[in-house]
Amino acid sequence: MGLSVIVLAAGEGKRMRSPRPKVLADLAGRPLIAHVLEAAAALQPARVRVVLGHGADAVRAAMPDEVEIRLQPEQRGTGDAVACAIDGIPDDDLVLVLCGDVPLVRPASLQALVDAATAADGALMTVELADPTGYGRILRAPDGALERIVEHKDADADERAIGEINTGLLALPAATLARHVDVLDNDNAQGEYYLTDVIGAVRAAGGRIEAVRPEFEWEVQGVNSPRQLADLERAWQRHLAGQLLDAGVCLRDPGRIDIRGTLTAAADVLIDVGCVFEGTVELGPGVRVGAHCVLRDCRIGAGTTIEPHSQLDGSETGEHCRVGPFARLRPGTVLAGRARVGNFVETKNAAVGMGSKINHLSYIGDAEIGREANIGAGTITCNYDGMRKHRTVIGDGAFIGSDTQLVAPVTVGAGATIGAGSTITHDAPAGQLTFSRSRQRTLSNWVPPSAREED
Ligand code: UD1
Ligand code: CA
Repeated sequence: MGLSVIVLAAGEGKRMRSPRPKVLADLAGRPLIAHVLEAAAALQPARVRVVLGHGADAVRAAMPDEVEIRLQPEQRGTGDAVACAIDGIPDDDLVLVLCGDVPLVRPASLQALVDAATAADGALMTVELADPTGYGRILRAPDGALERIVEHKDADADERAIGEINTGLLALPAATLARHVDVLDNDNAQGEYYLTDVIGAVRAAGGRIEAVRPEFEWEVQGVNSPRQLADLERAWQRHLAGQLLDAGVCLRDPGRIDIRGTLTAAADVLIDVGCVFEGTVELGPGVRVGAHCVLRDCRIGAGTTIEPHSQLDGSETGEHCRVGPFARLRPGTVLAGRARVGNFVETKNAAVGMGSKINHLSYIGDAEIGREANIGAGTITCNYDGMRKHRTVIGDGAFIGSDTQLVAPVTVGAGATIGAGSTITHDAPAGQLTFSRSRQRTLSNWVPPSAREED
């Protein structure tokens, strides 16, 4: 028996008050639907179909190639949505129905749902909520067996008092679904074709439906409004922060960290408040990240300190480096061990050798710097001629005086010294002093305008 996944995502999402389709709203740095598709993919289904309606073109453009798109021309209810996607799915497949706006369900919970459905005639994910308002309620027989679902708008007072709700996630055999979604009626408070009615029909035909609980409530929380999106983002960040704390990471405040991707932290790592981690970030043992840093796709070596307000993107540091405060490391920056990049320094596509320092107010792009070099304040690599990028090579132990422009392509030899304020347009030989500077003059007979006699 194969597994097929249908993701319902045709709804308009009016309450988001955004022109963007709801399932493209961003949670932890990715569209809601991307989270759902990732969880589904973990189960290695035979196929994944997404039902689109409102904003279909925009959503389609954001979809990976292997996902099949089915259009629901008119949003006539969740039952109708499944009817639009069931065609051609083998009868003996199990169909897992997910919602594009319930982003954080974990693969383990989906697997539990699939296993329960396989062992019975289908399964439903349910939770007990303190405030079940708005959700479909789970009605059970006296022996506890799941009977049917009644939508909030169709429920009477007794039914509304039930706390167990339908999360909207379910798994049923394809044959069962295909048979029942075809004959649903819309004789209800919303005039919609309810997928939930299939549950009652299976039960009425003598079938048994299991209920499965997720481990965490946020797994089944849907996004209908900006407020719910913000709440879910916080719940998710709290969960990730909790995992880091459990792994021994010191967070100055677990309520003030944002992880939009995967953060791996080794032993004895300290992260101060307000940091954002995007993509894949690896922090080595003993790394310190100061307040309000943004790190995207970085690997930080053991014992390195990132001082506050630094931004590192596509960069790598060796061990015991010091970066910032207010440093900007752009893609292709690779710092060897003990290198230092200080305040208001921007680097891009730059390899900085062991122990070298770029401590103040510099731009180093398309450059290769050897070991133990000192790059003075205000050094600029002029790497771009308006057409192409050119390389600057600085040898081991070189000393670049402050306020130097290195007009690439150019090479400064090992142990060379460049005098402060130079514009270097030709290679500077190793071990010698090179400077280009207009000679300083003093005019001894100069009189300031204020002291001049008027004629
Ligand atoms: C549905 C369930 C309800 C459950 C709730 C959980 C039904 C009838 N009710 O309610 O029992 O408690 O979810 O959130 O299923 N969609 C389409 N096409 C449509 C209608 C909906 O694709 O014609 C999609 C939506 O985009 C959304 C999902 O289906 O992703 C659920 O729709 P929504 O309107 O949010 O569900 P409810 O009616 O609130
Ligand atoms: Ca609805």
